[in-house]
Amino acid sequence: MMQSRLYFAAFLGAAVAVTAPSMFSQQPGAPGGAPAQEHHWPKPTNLKVLPKDTTPEQLHKIMHGIAGSLGVRCSFCHVVNEQTHHMDFASDAKPDKHMARIMMRMTQTINAQYLPQIHDPDAKPEDQHVSCGTCHQGHKMPPHFVPPPEHRGPPMSSAPQPGL
Ligand code: HEC
Ligand code: HEC
Repeated sequence: MMQSRLYFAAFLGAAVAVTAPSMFSQQPGAPGGAPAQEHHWPKPTNLKVLPKDTTPEQLHKIMHGIAGSLGVRCSFCHVVNEQTHHMDFASDAKPDKHMARIMMRMTQTINAQYLPQIHDPDAKPEDQHVSCGTCHQGHKMPPHFVPPPEHRGPPMSSAPQPGL
């Protein structure tokens, strides 16, 4: 239990650290056309991955971080309520919100279980975690990386495929 709190802290720190520049460059409320008074968000009611006691301020930072890391607006994962015409952030209607939850769990697991096994003396603290932006680089789908020709080995089909 204690440990999972620490893991969350690392995740939160990563999300905020990686996206701080985009947070400052964004117009308040611009993504998804949400109202500018976002810092008066109500308490969250439908958190399944983040701790239930995440404050609206923390959530604000995390959500702006996620949106910036994927280069999307809030409405990529959140729906607008047809009647009120306001964002219904608690709704789980969008499949991308579901995918994002899986991605959040995956990112937490990488940071909690795998990276702590790497004791690299060269790594700076900011190297020692992954965040959404590590893979997504400002895109909905992580951009494909193709190694330069001199490093391309035999075609993958003829090589053993360890899933990498
Ligand atoms: C890539 C998908 C994604 C984007 C983009 C995104 N969110 Fe979220 N948001 C989520 C997920 C997933 C949750 C639920 C987290 C959980 O279950 O712990 C959530 C939860 C929330 C909640 C809490 C709702 C409640 O009552 O439980 C608020 C508020 C929120 N987001 C606001 C925003 C705002 C504002 C933006 C744009 C700056 C944004 N989100 C962008 C995926 C996203
Ligand atoms: C280790 C690399 C990695 C990290 C870290 C990562 N993702 Fe992803 N993400 C992927 C890959 C790969 C896919 C494509 C998966 C597929 O389509 O099968 C993907 C797909 C997605 C999609 C679906 C996009 C679409 O257009 O359908 C969403 C949403 C998403 N990620 C959100 C997030 C969020 C939010 C975070 C941070 C909490 C995150 N991802 C962290 C690798 C990553």
